Amino acid sequence: MKKLSQKAYWNGVAAEKSFTLRPDFSLLKTCIGKDAFIVDYGCGYGRTLEELYLAGYRNSLGLDFSGAMIARGKKSYPRLNIQIIESSHTNLPDCSVDMVLLFALLTCIAEDKEQQELMKEIRRILKPGGYIYITDFLLNDDKRNRERYNAFMEKYGIYGVFDLPEGVTLRHHDEDYVKQLMKDFAITHFEKTQNRTMNGHISNGFVLMAQKKR
Ligand SMILES: C[S@@+](CC[C@H](N)C(=O)[O-])C[C@H]1O[C@@H](n2cnc3c(N)ncnc32)[C@H](O)[C@@H]1O
Repeated sequence: MKKLSQKAYWNGVAAEKSFTLRPDFSLLKTCIGKDAFIVDYGCGYGRTLEELYLAGYRNSLGLDFSGAMIARGKKSYPRLNIQIIESSHTNLPDCSVDMVLLFALLTCIAEDKEQQELMKEIRRILKPGGYIYITDFLLNDDKRNRERYNAFMEKYGIYGVFDLPEGVTLRHHDEDYVKQLMKDFAITHFEKTQNRTMNGHISNGFVLMAQKKR
């Protein structure tokens, strides 16, 4: 299949995909209160913010570059504040956010540089002591994954980046790389998990909570 731009891909699948990574409320409540301002970056159709809303976390904003994801979210959960974003710059004031969520978002960003730019923006908008809560995918060691990581090494130069036949580029991350990416934050929680992917496979994953240094 012809490779689509990343945004075109997410727009194309917005009506059909279901995302699965769940918030850990016991972890969340050690970091923020119910009135905290939470930004879900790469919120998709808003299902995480809806789950948070039902649990009493109602001061939130969802941002996503896919207009079709946001349209689905507005239809499914009209009470949520979710908006299209044009670039990784959010227009939010400096030091204004208590927690940023990145749920299966880094996997959509193949390049180190683009991930680093996003972390810079997140540091800008977080309050001192504010949190970033990431859940995403780690490298796997099974044959299917090793073969695709190797097959795309020449194209992308990063072990773990691969194209799916359906037309999107995804990344599974090296654990040390993730910790290096977070070097300007203080990691308060890191846990390895097994995550179900949007296509129903089981993959290594992680949950990370980190705080903006004061
Ligand atoms: C795998 S989905 C996860 C959605 C949501 N976080 C969830 O867990 O339900 C990834 C989402 O990130 C969005 N996305 C991917 N790259 C993005 C970027 N660079 N900026 C903003 N949104 C992006 C896609 O449109 C898609 O909705």
